[in-house]
Amino acid sequence: MCGIVAYVGSRDSVPVLLEGLARLEYRGYDSAGLAVLGRSGDLRIRKAKGRVADLAAELPARFKGGPGIGHTRWATHGEPSDANAHPHAVGPVAIVHNGIIENADELRTGLVARGAQFSSDTDSEILAHLIAEADTDLEEAVRSALTQVVGTYGLAVLDARQPDRLVVARNGSPVLLGIGEREMFAASDLSALVRYTRQVVHLDDGEVATVQADGFRTFTLDAQRTTKQPAVIEADLGSYEADGHAHFMHKEIHEQPQVVERVLRGRLDERFNTAHLGGLKMDAREARGIRRVKILGCGSAYYAGLLGAQLIEEMARIPADAEAASEFRYRNPVVEADTLYVGVSQSGETYDTLAAVQELTRKGGRVLGVVNTVGSTIARACDAGVYLHAGPEVSVTSTKTFTATATVFALLALHLGRIHDLSTADGRRISAGLRALPDQIAQVLAMEEEIASVAKELAQYRGMFFVGRVRGWPVAREGAQKLKEVSYLHAEAYPASELKHGPLALVGPELPTVAVIPDDELVEKNLSTLGEIRARRGRVAVVGHSAPDVKLADDFIAVPKNEPELDPILLSVPLQLLAYHAAVALGNDVDRPRNLAKSVTVE
Ligand code: G6P
Repeated sequence: MCGIVAYVGSRDSVPVLLEGLARLEYRGYDSAGLAVLGRSGDLRIRKAKGRVADLAAELPARFKGGPGIGHTRWATHGEPSDANAHPHAVGPVAIVHNGIIENADELRTGLVARGAQFSSDTDSEILAHLIAEADTDLEEAVRSALTQVVGTYGLAVLDARQPDRLVVARNGSPVLLGIGEREMFAASDLSALVRYTRQVVHLDDGEVATVQADGFRTFTLDAQRTTKQPAVIEADLGSYEADGHAHFMHKEIHEQPQVVERVLRGRLDERFNTAHLGGLKMDAREARGIRRVKILGCGSAYYAGLLGAQLIEEMARIPADAEAASEFRYRNPVVEADTLYVGVSQSGETYDTLAAVQELTRKGGRVLGVVNTVGSTIARACDAGVYLHAGPEVSVTSTKTFTATATVFALLALHLGRIHDLSTADGRRISAGLRALPDQIAQVLAMEEEIASVAKELAQYRGMFFVGRVRGWPVAREGAQKLKEVSYLHAEAYPASELKHGPLALVGPELPTVAVIPDDELVEKNLSTLGEIRARRGRVAVVGHSAPDVKLADDFIAVPKNEPELDPILLSVPLQLLAYHAAVALGNDVDRPRNLAKSVTVE
């Protein structure tokens, strides 16, 4: 989704901004632009629909500048176009904005009545007008504009009349400051800063900062000073490079053995055959008191939550379910004191998940965050948390963070299970299963060629069903999600048992099915579903442990067997490769699927 990068210091800001914009590309965007102050104090702006590389190629050689702001836009108000791209400028003021101004119509009417002329369809341009209109010091002008605004913003402002500074502000859309040596950076996402600094400051909602080369000051909207403690972040620049892989998605799928190792590191307790999660902040007595677990997330985070709910219910015998955070927050949820709520998010910035977490904490619910991005908004909004430690995920579609989230849930289930009814022997069995996961994932990855050839076959169809029963069901859902996101083929997941209650009407030679069939107590039932499909001459690819009768399936992808509870984690991996290779076969932009953004920071 939209990205911001800004710079003030002695360098030419143009290469810094372009580099930052390129790093923000992974979030998804449709246009890009930058504004810099020339040496003579003139405001220079270039913006265009399309890629950052195209924008860079079009810049004249003399396009250089002092402080500057840059933006990648993901259209919400107004179509993707040159005019709607940011920055938006009014007189000497230029702004870039992430978020949505909810009272835009009302503010625009007032501005037009006062003589303002608009050159875009965006809600963001209103901010430039409001700031330019307040003829005072920039910081004061930004504050006065923001007090009129209802909505969310991550904002960076440049003013040709005050060429030594930027003003940035945050409400509901992240802004970080990066501290350098006599230079300062600001961005909406760490990825745009890591090349330059490891010292960052996260702004809080309702904060405004004046940023100059030698430092920054932060204030509330009513001009009260706030104090901020810089944090030193651990970030590996290599995580933002594809390292010889054709795509980040491919790289991130292949990182999974190491990622799972990292998730498990120091968290398995051999003495009591349980798991320790330091960030849980809950003693055994409190954990015993949990009567229900409710998991909330969006997209793949929600599907990982479905898998997590199953793990918790199976191992800890605590009723658990997952729900799309976006649905939950709008239905005036009943919040119970003895329920453990879990907010799941790779980015830690998904607006719907954040809103669900905020609604829960407001009502006194206890919320645990399962988040990848350290210091992110959701991580900070939760009472306690477990970080994934999966490293930055650049491809829009989640792979390694799905697996990392599922593994965290397995640890949580083991921990809660061992406090409730899971025996020592079962604790030992699950711990051993968890330890075996990295090698077994590597075994699945070694079958890539075989999976790619199945993917090529399936990519010739217009769509497909994904089916699974109980443990296979969340796997099928995430499998369908992956395929949709990157191949654009229609993919629909169904519980295998539901097939005959409607969808079977669609099954025939033109609609294949991918069936997730672990060797568990439901294997016979699953095979009979395959019989129903074959009777309608539907093509079948099975992902499972034992090869079905050749009459029942055209393709079989063999996955190593772990413990029944943990099998869904492994069964998900070939489906990632299936989606990836289908997308490659179809020639799609795998890492930046159309219409999607890495983190959706608006409603
Ligand atoms: C977007 C992405 C999905 C992702 C979802 C949740 O919709 O396109 O791939 O699963 O957000 O993101 P989060 O950062 O909260 O895990």
